[in-house]
Amino acid sequence: MNIAILGFGTVGYGVYELAQKVPEVDVKYILDLKKHDDISAKSVTDINEILNDASVDTVVELIGGHHPAYDFIVASLKSGKNVITANKLVICEHYEELTALAKENKVALRYTAAVGGGIPWLTNLERTIKTSSVHKIRGIFNGTTNYILDAMHSTSAQFEDALKEAQKLGFAEADPSSDIDGLDTKRKIAISSNIAFGIVTDSNEVNVIGIRNVTAEAIKDCEAHGYICRLIAKARRCDEGVSAWVEPTFVKNDTVYASVTQNFNHISIDADNLGYGSFFGYGAGRYPTAFTVVNDVIDVANGNKKTYNENMEKISINNDIVAHSYYIITSLVDEIKELGIKETWKYGVLTEPISIRKMHTLYAKLLEKDPKIFIAGVY
Ligand code: HSE
Repeated sequence: MNIAILGFGTVGYGVYELAQKVPEVDVKYILDLKKHDDISAKSVTDINEILNDASVDTVVELIGGHHPAYDFIVASLKSGKNVITANKLVICEHYEELTALAKENKVALRYTAAVGGGIPWLTNLERTIKTSSVHKIRGIFNGTTNYILDAMHSTSAQFEDALKEAQKLGFAEADPSSDIDGLDTKRKIAISSNIAFGIVTDSNEVNVIGIRNVTAEAIKDCEAHGYICRLIAKARRCDEGVSAWVEPTFVKNDTVYASVTQNFNHISIDADNLGYGSFFGYGAGRYPTAFTVVNDVIDVANGNKKTYNENMEKISINNDIVAHSYYIITSLVDEIKELGIKETWKYGVLTEPISIRKMHTLYAKLLEKDPKIFIAGVY
């Protein structure tokens, strides 16, 4: 199989290296902003050179971001080329259109590395739905935020210091907002929900709160009551509909999520027949991600032209149907009294159970008056 790699950054270079070791794969082109003389593939800067070469079966998009990645994916599918990508932003925002385009052109669209990096999560989810209904998916989908929260637990650091350390060590990016504000996690739970439940979600309906406002005091309260703080994404389907959300969560300190340290991911599934299954590993990094991308290339070379799911039911997320308690630190004490305060901890309070939608809506309002407000789901 002749492939073209678009983007020659951390992952693109990793895929180029790993692909050399696979006899049935030949890297014919590398597309990058600048030319490279020191590689065995042809170095190009114009996508049309690739699109016009009928011998290229498969385009591997590793540019990231929205444009031009989206445009190149669309053009490749329309040119009858299989597409493999790790681009969660493009897949999440154009899920229906790109899936339809792949089907129409009878080519593969695989994006296993977009969720879970080195973990074969989506391929296992894809296998699960062949025989069984999925009830729930949940877990830690983001290594950067897990690294920061783990550091705050182990060193009592404040958020800003833990973030700076994570940036110094290369775990967090210079602009960390998509990780720490939960957007990366939101896209991953939206894509996973689409496959798990056979639906098309509008990811903007997923309620999201990131970890920007977590403090050393919140972590102290959390530990004092037998919990560990993690950024958890969760989606579930029941008779009333599908719920999906991302929020800092106090998990019991004897659960698997509490034991996930550093920048690891841990994703779980509840399904008929399987019962419960769990996946643990590196969700990012050159070689874990390249490993998954190259496995997608090999699957396609072996004839897998399937899209991840056949069912594409359009639904609205319903976060009114799930409720739990929240831990809140805020100066707006009167405004949160209406929620019903179950316990007062040293730095914050624990509420009575409240629906995800109601809490997230209230949080957005309170944030305008108290930009430092921190909330975490507790269960
Ligand atoms: N930045 C992500 C993480 C990896 O830290 O997990 C890419 O989705």
